[in-house]
Amino acid sequence: MEIQLWREILDPYTLAVDELVVKFNHIISEYRQVGVYSPIEQVTGRVKTISSILEKAQKKNIDLKNFEEKIDDIAGIRIICQFVEDIYKVVDIIKRRSDMRIKTEKDYINNMKRSGYRSYHVTVYYRVETLKGTKEIQVEIQIRTLAMNFWATIEHSLQYKYKQNMPEHIRERLSAAADAILMLDQEMSLVRDEIMDAQNSFKVKANIVADILTNIQNLYKVANKAEVIKIQDDFFRIYQMGNQEELEQFSKQLDIISERYHAQSLR
Ligand code: GTP
Ligand code: MG
Repeated sequence: MEIQLWREILDPYTLAVDELVVKFNHIISEYRQVGVYSPIEQVTGRVKTISSILEKAQKKNIDLKNFEEKIDDIAGIRIICQFVEDIYKVVDIIKRRSDMRIKTEKDYINNMKRSGYRSYHVTVYYRVETLKGTKEIQVEIQIRTLAMNFWATIEHSLQYKYKQNMPEHIRERLSAAADAILMLDQEMSLVRDEIMDAQNSFKVKANIVADILTNIQNLYKVANKAEVIKIQDDFFRIYQMGNQEELEQFSKQLDIISERYHAQSLR
């Protein structure tokens, strides 16, 4: 096949990869805009080179007539997450989208490969529009943690270096490293729970404080000024002590006081 023809065939794949990188990056910004932790840390994409398409076709005995159907990773997206839990969130996000349709799923996280490789693979159908019309193409999305990516990158370069003849002692080292990566991800998941708990209690506290301030502000309109100032001083004192339970207690009492004024004003 002529080079120019290859370029034409691969052009929609470039478009798909570019579009998808933009779309997944936009998900990151959507999370960040509302101040919520993003399950996606980083997105990259690539189109397979002509030479590696030819190499794969030869290796897998694929007729070049239908390589677009048989080679499902001509367009590739890699999504990197901080924590293992995030990976499944990303898979859910992908499943809910209307612009991609899942063809296959491979969970190499719960089913680690013999090499030690872990990742979640989703192959999707994705439509692009070009001057020649609509084309539905396959895209392989690999979702993995930073730690999994570290391992896969190193292992890939070693595979490349040794081809089929990776020395046994290196294979063993990589397997040990894969175990360490698994432990690292598990440790990080524990830290993640801590982070989420902390974020949560921070939000709860912020809500209580907001309620109290609204109540005090409203009391200024209806209550005796000296009484409101005393309430305000009490609030500052409790707030400075930093005990959340006392703050909650105070907020409830304030609700009762406010209710009383509200009832009075209705009379
Ligand atoms: P291929 O598409 O020919 O690779 O076969 P497959 O469809 O059975 O492959 P699979 O879904 O298992 O893997 C597809 C891609 O995942 C590969 O192209 C790699 O990028 C990655 N991958 C799979 N196994 C390994 C591994 O042992 N080490 C590394 N570094 N990457 C792997
Ligand atoms: Mg594949």
